[in-house]
Amino acid sequence: MSLKNTDPKLAELIKKEQQRQQETLMLIPSENYASEAVQQAVGSCLANKYAEGYPRRRYYQGQAYVDQIEQLAIERAKKLFNVPHANVQPYSGSPANAAVYMALLQAGEKIMGMKLSSGGHLTHGHPKITFSGKFFQPVQYQVGKDGWLDYQAIEKLALKHRPKLIITGYTAYPRIVEWQKFSAIAKKVGAWLMADISHIAGLVIAGVHPSPVPYAELITTTTHKTLRGPRGAMILVTQKGLQKDSQLAKKIDRAVFPGLQGGPHLNSIAGIAVCLKQAASANFKKYAQQIVKNAQALVKELINQGFELVTGGTDNHLILIDLRKQGVDGKTAAVVLEAAGLVVNYNTIPYDPNPPRCPSGIRLGTPAVTSRGMGELQMKKIAHWFKQAIDSRDSTKELDKIKKEVKALCRKYPL
Ligand SMILES: Cc1ncc(COP(=O)(O)O)c(C=O)c1O
Repeated sequence: MSLKNTDPKLAELIKKEQQRQQETLMLIPSENYASEAVQQAVGSCLANKYAEGYPRRRYYQGQAYVDQIEQLAIERAKKLFNVPHANVQPYSGSPANAAVYMALLQAGEKIMGMKLSSGGHLTHGHPKITFSGKFFQPVQYQVGKDGWLDYQAIEKLALKHRPKLIITGYTAYPRIVEWQKFSAIAKKVGAWLMADISHIAGLVIAGVHPSPVPYAELITTTTHKTLRGPRGAMILVTQKGLQKDSQLAKKIDRAVFPGLQGGPHLNSIAGIAVCLKQAASANFKKYAQQIVKNAQALVKELINQGFELVTGGTDNHLILIDLRKQGVDGKTAAVVLEAAGLVVNYNTIPYDPNPPRCPSGIRLGTPAVTSRGMGELQMKKIAHWFKQAIDSRDSTKELDKIKKEVKALCRKYPL
């Protein structure tokens, strides 16, 4: 029986969500639209199968096809990222990072990552409330006052604390990361280097952001952001990693299963295989290039409209607006923008004087609107709507009017 007949209430909610996604502009940089092929794989019968273990080494029978599916995802990941080992089983980005820490560290050892308020992720050692900050000893670096990575300050901090693991790669950093500088710092203090490229993986494989593969021993990434795949994640072990420890691949696999997880989600793994096939195409390269072009077009027009951006712009898919000049906090702005059909998330800016629940910034990105086929012209329009919506934040009538215009644009770029 169909979902509609079995559970009409739920079917209706999904339909409404689909309509919301169709009629609004998805500008949250970590969101994207997975292709129909990816969605078919995720919604397939593979969700029925248990397969604890790894291909040809399972604890359940009935693996003839799922072994081949997981192997396909692994081989595609290795080829695309040019690495000798890939684990495609992490349920998502956070468990992928947890598995790396489990593989490399004992509880209580030091990990060094970027502060949440500077653009790091919760799993990079955010103190007290996260597993990474509770079970390990976090050392947190920050961006400089100008919003850029300050490699000298990072080196100084690393020399002082001598962490066992250094984490680079971010959630809200709009600039190129100079992996070689992190590699030099890690070498100096004898630390492992992990690059979390969850946000920029699609840009990395398309060559529009430098690859950390020659510099980091380990790379983690989600598969649902610029990579445009299903919700999931991968851990990649580089040649450098294997040179440092020939057992590293084994340690990672053991940390994922049985260390942290049980049965892998084979439907997601199949979705990863599909997205990696798509990401290897010339079209994907063009797509990733367009993401960056769109972000830069958006930056240009936002600046024309009087907005101040952290670091003054972007090199990737992501933009951080500092709204203090507009006299509105990020949360209020995000709510107002949503009422106008522009969906972003509120975000802290570096050294934010306001608390994370009501920060001074908003974070936006271009992967999803680029997936819809929008280009620089549409970005210009979006920047105008931003200004209009924030200026007329007290006028429901004005916000409704923008919402209608947004909807009309969205109609021209169906999902
Ligand atoms: C850099 C980075 N790492 C890890 C994660 C965690 O991924 P997930 O939400 O899939 O657990 C995110 C998610 O936003 C991220 O941006």
